[in-house]
Amino acid sequence: MSVPLHFLATLQEDLQAARDRDPAARSLAEVALGYPGVHAVWVYRLAHRMWQRPGLQLPARLISQLSRAFTGIEIHPGARLGRRLFIDHGMGVVIGETAEVGDDVVLFHGSTLGGKSMRHGKRHPTVGDGVVVGAGAKILGPVWIGAGAQIGANAVVIHDVPAGAIAVGVPAQIRQRPAAAPFDAEIDDPAIYI
Ligand SMILES: CC(C)(COP(=O)(O)OP(=O)(O)OC[C@H]1O[C@@H](n2cnc3c(N)ncnc32)[C@H](O)[C@@H]1OP(=O)(O)O)[C@@H](O)C(=O)NCCC(=O)NCCS
Repeated sequence: MSVPLHFLATLQEDLQAARDRDPAARSLAEVALGYPGVHAVWVYRLAHRMWQRPGLQLPARLISQLSRAFTGIEIHPGARLGRRLFIDHGMGVVIGETAEVGDDVVLFHGSTLGGKSMRHGKRHPTVGDGVVVGAGAKILGPVWIGAGAQIGANAVVIHDVPAGAIAVGVPAQIRQRPAAAPFDAEIDDPAIYI
């Protein structure tokens, strides 16, 4: 399997994302050598490429499990993860096979993108761009988490969360609805009819 340049660029982006998002990070070298979340994402990117070739699915699962042993982070190689994913601290993160994650997402340690059923097919969450999932939070089932939402530490999310909202508690409740989109605000303003 050849390694195209865009693949290496993706790994570089993952590294830079961790550097940018963690105020404790002092250098790219520190992040590259010492951040298990970055290592787990890198191994996932390789395993995911392998997963797309039916003959390589078993080795893909095996390297994924090896990565779990070293990092404490379990990412199924079938999951579809966007660019610049940052898994901070990492230990205990689980991402299931049919999970889909957008770009610029942050997952803290102990967070789970898990299933609620043993059925085949889509059974894990879809997480939009820029979502932050707090430490210990569990998002369960094929729910949708809108872009920019924040999931509080230790929340258990079993329903969809609107874009930009904050969801906290067990079961998670929405604490703050997103502000009206600029388009809606314009329509709501009676001045536009004058
Ligand atoms: C949910 C979260 C994003 C909200 O942050 P925020 O916008 O600053 O909101 P506030 O702290 O003002 O809290 C808003 C309300 O939600 C409640 N709340 C905040 N986090 C909560 C949580 N994890 N569980 C339950 N309730 C929570 C607050 O008590 C407050 O309630 P009130 O309005 O009745 O007083 C944040 O608290 C959180 O949990 N972030 C995860 C961070 C994390 O996991 N860090 C790990 C670093 S190692």
